[in-house]
Amino acid sequence: TSVFQGRSLLAEKDFTRGELEYLIDLSLHLKDLKKRGVPHHYLEGKNIALLFEKNSTRTRSAFTTAAIDLGAHPEFLGANDIQLGKKESVEDTAIVLGSMFDGIEFRGFSQKTVEELAEHSGVPVWNGLTDQWHPTQMIADFMTVKEAFGHLEDITLVYVGDGRNNMANSLLVTGAILGVNVRICAPKELSPTQEVVNYAEKFAKESGAQLMVTDDVAKGVKGANVLYTDVWVSMGEEDKFEERVNLLKPYQINMDMIKQTGNQNDNLILLHCLPAFHDTKTQYGKMVSEEFGIDEMEITDEAFRSKYARQFEEAENRMHSIKAIMAATLGNLFIPRV
Ligand code: CP
Ligand code: NVA
Repeated sequence: TSVFQGRSLLAEKDFTRGELEYLIDLSLHLKDLKKRGVPHHYLEGKNIALLFEKNSTRTRSAFTTAAIDLGAHPEFLGANDIQLGKKESVEDTAIVLGSMFDGIEFRGFSQKTVEELAEHSGVPVWNGLTDQWHPTQMIADFMTVKEAFGHLEDITLVYVGDGRNNMANSLLVTGAILGVNVRICAPKELSPTQEVVNYAEKFAKESGAQLMVTDDVAKGVKGANVLYTDVWVSMGEEDKFEERVNLLKPYQINMDMIKQTGNQNDNLILLHCLPAFHDTKTQYGKMVSEEFGIDEMEITDEAFRSKYARQFEEAENRMHSIKAIMAATLGNLFIPRV
């Protein structure tokens, strides 16, 4: 058995720097195996439940293809398919699913739900995004940073936008654990909660990461190696469009902001967990354009398509990293102590 065997991934703060680094390196290794066509059936004969209360393209696809590549069988259970929390308690659902499935992915609203699933199912549970955290995304993101720069030390990652959503929370805490300098650049109304800042500061003390929370764009983005943003309105907050557009307009990633980093060429990349609103081609894009008179939201189309953009590599890395997470916690891998 390894330090990972049988464990759940509910929040980044439950994992050490060495453990997260191991998962990032295992992701890179599994990507290499996939590219070379080398089979890696570490989950032969296992059954994986994929629970989704909220929509998903990447997380669902990544868990599905990762499970199949690992030799496991994935089963999708959407919000309208099962009783979770409506007609049946989370506890009862967890007991039943745990008796049939070897691992459970959960995406939804409450962090408490994913914790209860882990507590009562008796099998590893992986958090595929809650209102609070997005931990599987973190392994892909820092894997992408490591691919781009070859290392994580001395990297400054600046997240601009809604500073108190799941992505901001996860980036701040995970960067702090990994020794990556993280800045959250957000309007005061949307700056991270004290609870999240406290976690991050505690980890930064151990890792040496330098943290900054600021509403000043020029100061925040200066020296960024990674410029990161996310939607201004997360799933479940669709009534907040107007408020967010007004607050976040100055925090858009555009060519000007890229210049303000003072970095260029190999010293800068752009990331976005996706989905992104960068033009009016989507239903949301059209709606925002008509109602608020702006054609781009958190990132301009020009920046999104610039030479710095790595969001599609990042998206692909979701699969490799989710594979690593499932293989490490459920597979028969020999993993040295990390
Ligand atoms: N980044 C991410 O989690 O994408 P989905 O919502 O499409 O899964
Ligand atoms: N903050 C976004 C992330 C989507 C991957 C949301 O919760 O909708």
